[in-house]
Amino acid sequence: MTMPELSGHSAVPVDRDTNFALDERIAIVGMGAMGKRVLATLRERGVRARQLACLVPAHEAGSLNMQSIGIEVFHDVASLVSWNPTLCVECAGHAAVDEAVIPLLERGVDTILVSLGALASAPLLEKINRAMTLGGSTLTLVSGAIGGIDALHAARMGGLDSVRYTGRKPPRAWQGSPAEAQFDMLTIDKPTVIFEGTAGESARLFPKNANVTAAIALAGIGFERTTVTMMADPGVDKNVHEIDAVGAFGRLSIRLENNPLPDNPRTSWLAAMSIEDAVIRRLEHSI
Ligand SMILES: NC(=O)c1ccc[n+]([C@@H]2O[C@H](COP(=O)([O-])OP(=O)(O)OC[C@H]3O[C@@H](n4cnc5c(N)ncnc54)[C@H](O)[C@@H]3O)[C@@H](O)[C@H]2O)c1
Repeated sequence: MTMPELSGHSAVPVDRDTNFALDERIAIVGMGAMGKRVLATLRERGVRARQLACLVPAHEAGSLNMQSIGIEVFHDVASLVSWNPTLCVECAGHAAVDEAVIPLLERGVDTILVSLGALASAPLLEKINRAMTLGGSTLTLVSGAIGGIDALHAARMGGLDSVRYTGRKPPRAWQGSPAEAQFDMLTIDKPTVIFEGTAGESARLFPKNANVTAAIALAGIGFERTTVTMMADPGVDKNVHEIDAVGAFGRLSIRLENNPLPDNPRTSWLAAMSIEDAVIRRLEHSI
């Protein structure tokens, strides 16, 4: 929600064209499919290049077109910290949460996190909490590729009896996953259950699919009580996510059919949009 009426009274410098806070300095961690998309959208929406930087592993520097990126590029967290970011936008994966997000939180940099699957690890969660306390920083979890998280979170106030997640993907999308040890993805010709268990087990066995189940588990009844079914379904050509929850509030059923990001068929476009939305809200609300 924009609040243009506030800009005239704000002590914070505000961009006259966009009404965004100008003192925010945004560090995008990870310049893969999602990081590039988020950067492009923020630039299109009018965020100034000088307000943006990114953290990219040194071995990827050669494959990035620095000129087309047009923002500061850093290869180590210490140099990025010297740039004085006020906001970190994580688009890099689970390992980067430990390597980059924790040091930034420790130095007081508020963070928007998309790799929620990392939070299935209790020791990492503890490290994050310590880093936030040390830095006085905040962590915003985006809903990513899934929806209805707000309703699930509200519903737990009255008590949730069950939360079930079902994920369906075309068989080819499960190539390279542990399911290949049991199933030949090239010959599956009917909807086939490739995993059934808890959100905690699915996060450990299928880390690449853990982000959606983690969002549901964290909003609802936790990793051990959330049940997960994953299917290789030749009848779908998108990533389909379904949540079914029952509780004192009543019953909830949500189904999303997500288009992939053009640059990464494994990543839902909606996940990138959820980060963009979170950053834009922050820029609007911090004035
Ligand atoms: N919450 C959700 O619903 C959801 C959905 C899809 C993806 N994701 C998460 O978003 C991440 C990014 O997605 P993507 O499609 O852009 O993946 P991608 O593989 O295209 O890009 C990830 C990039 O991050 C870089 N990277 C890895 N570690 C890094 C580090 N320590 N510092 C800086 N860069 C680092 C990689 O080199 C790569 O370029 C995924 O790994 C996944 O964890 C979340």
